[in-house]
Amino acid sequence: RKIVYLESTTSTNDIAKEYAEKGEKEGLVVIAEVQTKGRGRMGRRWITPGRDSISITILLRPEISPYMAPSITPVLAVSVVEMLREITGFEIGIKWPNDVVLDRKKVCGILTEMSAEIDVVKYIIVGIGINVNQETFDNEIENIATSLRKYSGKKYDRKAILSGILNRFERNYELFKKEGIGPFIEDLKKYSVLIGKKVLISGINEEYEAEAIDIDDDGALLVRLENGDVKKVLSGDVSIKG
Ligand code: BTN
Repeated sequence: RKIVYLESTTSTNDIAKEYAEKGEKEGLVVIAEVQTKGRGRMGRRWITPGRDSISITILLRPEISPYMAPSITPVLAVSVVEMLREITGFEIGIKWPNDVVLDRKKVCGILTEMSAEIDVVKYIIVGIGINVNQETFDNEIENIATSLRKYSGKKYDRKAILSGILNRFERNYELFKKEGIGPFIEDLKKYSVLIGKKVLISGINEEYEAEAIDIDDDGALLVRLENGDVKKVLSGDVSIKG
């Protein structure tokens, strides 16, 4: 696979997008030590001071319908969780839709972006940020972010984590292209930190409480509302209450 390694850049997602627009093949991996304009979901920032974390973006060109593309994110989340569990032995989980959490705090974030025509995906870029060896976090995110080192006091080898994740994702991605999200649903349930919990769901125009009860066959979150109705949540932000 082709790897572009940068000391410092704006955002690895932006660089991967430039390569994609110029026709670069699937499989490109952009890695940066420092990102000056790292981006998170919902227009948030992703702070990457460098050397302590992993910031990468993978370019994909699957021949799938644009409707299936968002399922790449949970496939990647499963790959990250399996690898981090193997390396650390910690109970790392997934907070739907795509945060990887340790000790209820975010240890890895994923930002998937797509360029598509009506019925065909042109390219997908998946950006992954993993908090590995940071000792501290800024005040504003201290309560919601953690790193492997902050949690355990131990330093971890970023290279081993990175190559492990890339290898595992490559296998899972091949399976996803053949069989879709189906083979990953059991893992998504097993690793979910939301199932059985009271949650607050924040969508674009609404905010409501519910109980997370299951992951549906297509990867959506199923919740039970206060009136007993079961609702399928397709997007948004979810936090655990209490
Ligand atoms: C989130 O949790 O909101 C997603 C965070 C994604 C961060 C990664 S770091 C590498 C890639 N480049 C970016 O600008 N963002 C993603």
